[in-house]
Amino acid sequence: MKLKNVGIIGLGTYVPENVMTNFDFEKIIDTSDEWIRTRTGIEERRFASADQATSDLGAEASKKALEKAGLSAEDIDMIILATTTPDYPIQSTACVVQELIGAVNAAAVDINAACSGFVYALTMAKGLIASGMNKKILVVGAEVLSKCVDMQDRNTCVLFGDGAAAAVVAEVEEGYGMLSQFLGAEADVKGALRTPAGGTRKPLSQEVLDERSNFLQMKGQDVFKFAVKALPKATLEALQGANLKAENIDMVFPHQANVRIIEAASKRLEIPMDKFYLNLNKLGNTSSASIGLALGEALDKGLVKKGDTIALTGFGAGLTYASMIIKWSY
Ligand code: ACO
Repeated sequence: MKLKNVGIIGLGTYVPENVMTNFDFEKIIDTSDEWIRTRTGIEERRFASADQATSDLGAEASKKALEKAGLSAEDIDMIILATTTPDYPIQSTACVVQELIGAVNAAAVDINAACSGFVYALTMAKGLIASGMNKKILVVGAEVLSKCVDMQDRNTCVLFGDGAAAAVVAEVEEGYGMLSQFLGAEADVKGALRTPAGGTRKPLSQEVLDERSNFLQMKGQDVFKFAVKALPKATLEALQGANLKAENIDMVFPHQANVRIIEAASKRLEIPMDKFYLNLNKLGNTSSASIGLALGEALDKGLVKKGDTIALTGFGAGLTYASMIIKWSY
């Protein structure tokens, strides 16, 4: 069986209107704009409003992606939504997005690979379309992290933001599209990055609420050490899969966690920093949404053109890491 060529044919993004600056954090916790900027590169991020859930952001991004692809919601036969911050513990956020956009002909499923989620979801979509099982898949990365981090914990709350990106994935012309990918995972035995309670290991209780363990906890330096190895490794593995070298890459869209992590990856990969697209200063770390948000912004600015070779590359809780090489097709 000849596998089909698969690529992205439309990409849409959405971020909430509410801007939360480093100076706003100075008013609620013991931190400073200077600390956050110099340690991470982040200056501000967007926070969802009280009545906005992850699906609302995902649906807005999805509508724009469909418009860019020139398709209607009924054309979609599968929704794969990557998130670490679902609307509900039970009922997938993908099913809520399906309802919000009216994708009545689509199957729908959530995946959780944290900040690698967008690349994991694209890879799954690629497999389904390449094999002929699906024709048009909506891949969504959406997060409302502001409601899942502890606003009293300065180690985490300043790092994250809310947003969504959506990509319509379909068959594309020969020689274009997703050339190769690498997905990796290694168990986070030390609990460097997880929300310890509120799931089945330690269900929600008064004790959990009192110790605030229903919020994300992170050992920042452990994650940092993992990230500076994982980003280059995933990228190099994906490049090898495409028979390409680092110098063949026109632009890299890394997970937007910390500019220092991206600088370290740039050195290891010997790809200059000006080829790495950065928007973490404005949006912070939006986990599953971050790579798609960066790519969407670059497309809107006309920075990615047909025939360009780009790398999407991320790492996150799990721990997971992932990279995909794409020859852009529109
Ligand atoms: N404001 C002021 N001081 C702070 C803040 C803050 N917001 N946060 C921490 N500090 C303090 C610490 O308490 C510590 O003080 P101490 O020395 O008195 O104990 C000091 O700053 C230094 O802390 P470090 O952890 O050593 O700082 P570091 O240089 O490692 O930077 C950071 C911390 C930014 C978190 C970095 O480790 C990092 O980016 N790690 C990777 C995190 C990451 O990418 N996470 C997302 C993964 S994606 C996902 O899947 C969700």
